[in-house]
Amino acid sequence: MKTINQFIMPKTAKRNSKGNLELGGCDCLELAEKYGTPLYVMCKETLVDMAQSFKNAFEDYPNFQPTYASKALMTKKIAEILHSEGFGFDAVSGGEIYTMHKAGVDMSKVTFNGNNKTPDEIKFALEVGIGHFSVDNFSEIEDLADALKGSDKTQPIHLRITPGIECHTHEYIQTGHLDSKFGFDLSQTDSAVEEILKHKNLELKGLHAHIGSQIFETKVFEDEVEVLIKEIVRLNKKFNLNLNEINIGGGLGITYTEADTPPSVYEIAEIIKQAIDKNCKKYSIEKPKLFIEPGRSIVGTAGVTLYKAGSSKQVPNGKKYVALDGGMADNPRPSMYGAEYIAEVANNKVGEPLETVTLSGRYCESGDILIKNTELPKIQKGDILCIYNTGAYNYSMSSNYNRILKPAVVLVNQGQPAMIVSRQTYEQLLENDL
Ligand SMILES: Cc1ncc(COP(=O)(O)O)c(C=O)c1O
Repeated sequence: MKTINQFIMPKTAKRNSKGNLELGGCDCLELAEKYGTPLYVMCKETLVDMAQSFKNAFEDYPNFQPTYASKALMTKKIAEILHSEGFGFDAVSGGEIYTMHKAGVDMSKVTFNGNNKTPDEIKFALEVGIGHFSVDNFSEIEDLADALKGSDKTQPIHLRITPGIECHTHEYIQTGHLDSKFGFDLSQTDSAVEEILKHKNLELKGLHAHIGSQIFETKVFEDEVEVLIKEIVRLNKKFNLNLNEINIGGGLGITYTEADTPPSVYEIAEIIKQAIDKNCKKYSIEKPKLFIEPGRSIVGTAGVTLYKAGSSKQVPNGKKYVALDGGMADNPRPSMYGAEYIAEVANNKVGEPLETVTLSGRYCESGDILIKNTELPKIQKGDILCIYNTGAYNYSMSSNYNRILKPAVVLVNQGQPAMIVSRQTYEQLLENDL
């Protein structure tokens, strides 16, 4: 069965009787008119469908904790929705922890990741009762032990390791290979465990790894499970421990363009479950508690960005540029990673002749191009453009470059739009200026 990550558009995307693009039962032109552009639009049905696919795919696994990687998109409403779907959360900063805490998330289902957690963040995470720390390096062992000194609390932790698996994705989003800023090299795990065992407030429960993002291969997850279980078995034996949790991170890819061919959640789940089965039989151990941390695949396809077309420019004997009213500050991925997207004109131009255009942003950087050489009906000033698959790593990576305001986020569901993050104002822009 196909899952949401294998489609370019949200599941509710269609043309309505006016020929306009509709999402979650809401006309995109009306959304643009009411909330302004650029506008992030999230389709609740698509988001929930994907979250439920993860739960269904692992339903028969005895001890499974889906954990949403909130770096992909974190707002109070998104936290509420995924919390009510039974998800835990992966946080990497005090700000993410604060947001989910305020949203009423069960903090015992939160894992605190990251390679340089500050002492204040560690203190705050302990205060709100974070479930697990994924300990990334030697200095964090000391910092965490220091923060717990004098208390009778025992903090569950995972050890983040770099399993030495390379996946074929963009270099900047590979994290599980050996020369990585994240986690312990396998040759360091013994020393890390020895260090942890010196501190009675730290309870090592298992291992964590994340091998990369936007992954289409399945074999890498099989290899990862094998490395994690083998290492758990070895550490249990060597240190007489009872580690029985593995966190395999996130990474499942989504379909930004037709060139992307990610597996479904069910395919990936089968590979992971079979690999666990095989390795547990091999070492005669119980199946460990399994954590998985999808981010992009949960929210990516559910989100689109609406832009208004502005100026255009025909380079003599060259490209035609159409400038949109957003760009690299609301979606830095094309300029950062060379990421590719699909756009559509949201107002009714269905059937009109196509021309090749490059969609540029409005920011003062020549690299501020959202989509190069795409075929679209002739765009006029004022047309509304929809760029698909912007739910993940767009709003969460947005900035105020050029002092341009961050867009609003609107959640659409069954014909009802609800603003879940308001558009920034000039007053807010100056709030911290002294
Ligand atoms: C530790 C960890 N877990 C989960 C994720 C989420 O990955 P994705 O959004 O590709 O599913 C990331 C992404 O960077 C990560 O670093």
